[in-house]
Amino acid sequence: MLVPPGYADYASYFSDALSFLRDYSWVYNFPVTELLVRDVFKQIPADWLPALLSLTNQQLNILPQGFVMDDWPPSLIRFCHRCHTLKIPIQRVIKPVPELPDKICRRLTPKKQHEVMNLAALISAECHNYGISQVLDVGAGLGYLGQLLHYWYGYHILGLEVDTERVKTASRNQSDLCPSPAVKYVTCSISPESYHSIESEIQDFMNDNVCNCGLSEVCSYECGVLNRKLSLELCTGGCEQHSVEKSYYHSDEVNGSAHVYSGECNNEGRMLSQPVSSDSGLFGASNTSLCMTGLHTCGDLTVDAIRIFFQLVSVKLLVLVPCCYHKMSLAKDTAVIDGKFSNFPLSSSLCHLIHSAAFCDSPSFLCRPFLRLASQETAARWQQWSEEDHKEHSLQVMARAVLQLYAHNEDLVLKKKCRRGVRKTNRSTFESFMDDALKRYKFIANTNTSHCDSSTIFFQVAELWQHHEASCHLAEIVTALQMTVQGVAESFILADRAAYLQEHAVSSVEIVKVMDDGMSPRCFALVARK
Ligand SMILES: C[S@@+](CC[C@H](N)C(=O)[O-])C[C@H]1O[C@@H](n2cnc3c(N)ncnc32)[C@H](O)[C@@H]1O
Repeated sequence: MLVPPGYADYASYFSDALSFLRDYSWVYNFPVTELLVRDVFKQIPADWLPALLSLTNQQLNILPQGFVMDDWPPSLIRFCHRCHTLKIPIQRVIKPVPELPDKICRRLTPKKQHEVMNLAALISAECHNYGISQVLDVGAGLGYLGQLLHYWYGYHILGLEVDTERVKTASRNQSDLCPSPAVKYVTCSISPESYHSIESEIQDFMNDNVCNCGLSEVCSYECGVLNRKLSLELCTGGCEQHSVEKSYYHSDEVNGSAHVYSGECNNEGRMLSQPVSSDSGLFGASNTSLCMTGLHTCGDLTVDAIRIFFQLVSVKLLVLVPCCYHKMSLAKDTAVIDGKFSNFPLSSSLCHLIHSAAFCDSPSFLCRPFLRLASQETAARWQQWSEEDHKEHSLQVMARAVLQLYAHNEDLVLKKKCRRGVRKTNRSTFESFMDDALKRYKFIANTNTSHCDSSTIFFQVAELWQHHEASCHLAEIVTALQMTVQGVAESFILADRAAYLQEHAVSSVEIVKVMDDGMSPRCFALVARK
């Protein structure tokens, strides 16, 4: 049961979390651009303000981590305490893995390197327990995860990706690295209905590879050399025979016990998820179990993949790192589908509650801004912010909010001319923000047809700015409160998915913190085993 300590079941956890989210929906239930239009500052309890406004920079930074002071008003202490108790504790963390050679890393940002290296270590450890050597990568993107899993550990990879251009790039990148039939990317749109097409892709992939995939056959000479170099780097000194057992994964943060998995370097110098005998390929016909994985499976993709996982008998293991919860689609027919979104709430435990009289108002606070909050930065990066960082951030938030207030007051609609609103480089002063905003937004009259030129708008918004500039610090306080609730929001969504998995007879489910959230905010992997 993936619930915080003190809860006996999902229902009691969801019930407390729903009450909390309803009580504090004022913290997140608005687009941040409407901070002033919705008068959010007025909703901060009056007795919280002296305590929050007197925080030092350091204290503001650690508020989302659970910082409280004894002399704060009891209601503020209670808010912080409830945030803390409604977060699911992390069950395992990943030990950092060594750096990879340039040939693999050169296309990847440090963030992406961190993500694929850590997730690959988790997948390998999980597959090791099942003797799995084939991995289905859903929403494979440019294929970085699969390329690393193949190159480093020798897994056979079938990558499914809806975007054909990404499939082409992933295939090209793989050929550059190692032109192997053991890594294949195909265009495929994953949906609850795509089960048959995915099954036949798996079948084709297996047929293509049966008896043809010993390491020496599938890897080019160059790939072998690189792998050899890689494992020499991975194995500590005295590993000439490449047969030294090497621990590469991890410890248990919560109860202190260690789970250490080991891989071996084979005599071709590769780290393997399991030892390979000379007469059986990694991808032999007798071994038909698969692991389904996905790095940053956005929006509905996570839940669609979970449904496919239930259907595909050969897939025994699921390791998904979800992201972009706010991109989940709305239910087409809200009258018959649970809740407002197609895939949230998902579990029967939660759906049952939101249909009860006590929580019939839950669509009003389990809304798009709630999902957006769950998808936001975590407290880890905020913790490092200097006073300058906060100043710059609050200026950007408030200047955008003032622009929105102006549009609201003048009955104008703000429309972006380009995808991004205001560029990051142009936000250190209000004037530079406005210069950029006027180039990037159109002001469209709702009713009044009179036309305002840019300089008039600039002048009028600047006047409004003077009234609100002093509230920049309050914008940082609201952001800190949001960061404090963020962990609850993400825990709540993950627990809903974990409950759903358990309701479908999955034998065990775990949430693993697979990345450093300072580096990559969407750092949790849902691991489910049949
Ligand atoms: C956030 S990206 C992650 C890409 C890759 N896993 C990575 O981490 O670099 C999500 C990917 O999933 C793909 N995707 C989204 N929905 C999908 C679907 N229903 N079927 C297949 N691919 C999908 C997107 O095109 C995108 O490439």
